Amino acid sequence: MTLKFVVMSDLHLMPQGELSMTLDTGARLEQAIDAVIERYGDADFCILAGDLADMGQPAAYEYLKTIIARMPIPVHITLGNHDRRPAFLDVFGADFADAETGKVDKVIDIKGYRIIMLDSSEPGRVDGVLEDDQIDWLHARLAEALDRPVIVVLHHNANALHIRSDDIRLLEPDAFIGALKTHPDIRQVIAGHVHITSTATWRGLPFTTLAGGHYSVSFVVDEPEAAIRRIDGPGQMAVVIGTPDRTTVLFDDFIDGNTSFGIIEGPRVHKTAAAA
Ligand SMILES: [Fe+2]
Repeated sequence: MTLKFVVMSDLHLMPQGELSMTLDTGARLEQAIDAVIERYGDADFCILAGDLADMGQPAAYEYLKTIIARMPIPVHITLGNHDRRPAFLDVFGADFADAETGKVDKVIDIKGYRIIMLDSSEPGRVDGVLEDDQIDWLHARLAEALDRPVIVVLHHNANALHIRSDDIRLLEPDAFIGALKTHPDIRQVIAGHVHITSTATWRGLPFTTLAGGHYSVSFVVDEPEAAIRRIDGPGQMAVVIGTPDRTTVLFDDFIDGNTSFGIIEGPRVHKTAAAA
């Protein structure tokens, strides 16, 4: 009973036919879905972790709805700083908001795991916010699941990455970390937002970011004023695999992957250097 799910983030869709920073983000999402159909059609679900619409346009959410109709697995959604909650809920339905928090928060219980999705978007802000009632909600959802591993997915990274965008991460993460620390088995905290791939441990917890579907960025470590370049690849999704004692995050670059130069077939044969 292996859990498998896909995380996509930072789709930055425009209304159909419009480009975002010269990129056809609709076509990029279509490529991502092609990759899911080809490689992850057996996954349990896909999470879209925010920045769905580049500027929160209703027409972009309509376009998103059209494109993801082709997804072969269930889709769960939360929001990022580029999203506009009222426009999203108008198109996708008010049921996407949690009755208690009013945000696009959600719990998924599956195959011995609990996955908690948190909506860290806040109108008018680029950095992320979890309001007090969301922190209370998180405490309650964690307390219900002390007997099983938990994976948290939200748009904003809580941990600083030593890069330029550190000042727009999750604002005041202490309450968030404090809540997570009430659970004995947090397997991953997965975010998008920064448009780069990273892994970290911070305060004893494991954090991951994926590059997502839009442009990625170069960075200069610990030089927040240094110029950075926008790069058109990779288009990247994360693939999370969960067994009772192991949680793995793989990264699938569905755009600008590496060139294949050979195929390995047949059973694996182990050889030592001396025997080879
Ligand atoms: Fe983004």
